[in-house]
Amino acid sequence: MSTRSENFPALYERLKPQCEEIIARYEVKRSALLPLIHLFQEHEGYASAEAMRAVSEMLNLSLAVVESTVSFYTLFFRKPVGKYVLQVCRGLACTICGAEDIMAYFREKLGIGHLQTTEDGLFSYEEVECLAACDRATCMQVNLEFVYDLTPQTIDEMIDAMRAGTHPVPPLAQTDKPPKSWIVLQDAQVSRGEKSAGALDQSDPNNAGGLDKDGVIMLDRIISREAHFKGRTKERLATEQPGIIDIMGNGAAH
Ligand code: FES
Repeated sequence: MSTRSENFPALYERLKPQCEEIIARYEVKRSALLPLIHLFQEHEGYASAEAMRAVSEMLNLSLAVVESTVSFYTLFFRKPVGKYVLQVCRGLACTICGAEDIMAYFREKLGIGHLQTTEDGLFSYEEVECLAACDRATCMQVNLEFVYDLTPQTIDEMIDAMRAGTHPVPPLAQTDKPPKSWIVLQDAQVSRGEKSAGALDQSDPNNAGGLDKDGVIMLDRIISREAHFKGRTKERLATEQPGIIDIMGNGAAH
């Protein structure tokens, strides 16, 4: 067991009263999902597997539901990241205003690429979709705080200040040394072409997000032909939550 896993129960006990307070704010328990993940990420520096499991138990949600929600948002990190997460916008407005050059400058300056962390664990770098600040392009977020009107000079000043510990945005907590890449396994499979998050003409029963040759979402196919797919799919909604499949099956396409 890793040191961090050993420490998680202590962190959980410490945060439990705050978690209960957050849950009590909502009429529907599951509405506390995002604030709870935020809370654990604030203390651990990322949304750890232990934190997601603890939240799923607190809210009586399946782990698959918690993980899929966390993976949807770029503001949650599913692996340890650097103390400064630099997310540069590659949306249309920013691209027109020179984002390609800005991203190339970051990559060269830091010596890392998209979704990678520097060896010293100080910086993680990501190129993200529109940050909804198009009028201040080119822009980015530093630990989720906006930085606008980027130029090579402002980037140099920002990185120097972070290295010197004088930047106004505080560093993230870091409970684990981050690996070089913070791509999670499934993303890595997608980038190698082994798995698609939503491709056409899918027949793989492990790609529930894809459409099969008839245009039916594979998950619906799995639900509607449960007996046929039993034991042939590793999709967790199917293997871990048969109750959910029953509920969803009522509205699934056949
Ligand atoms: S395109 Fe960059 S903020 Fe919208």
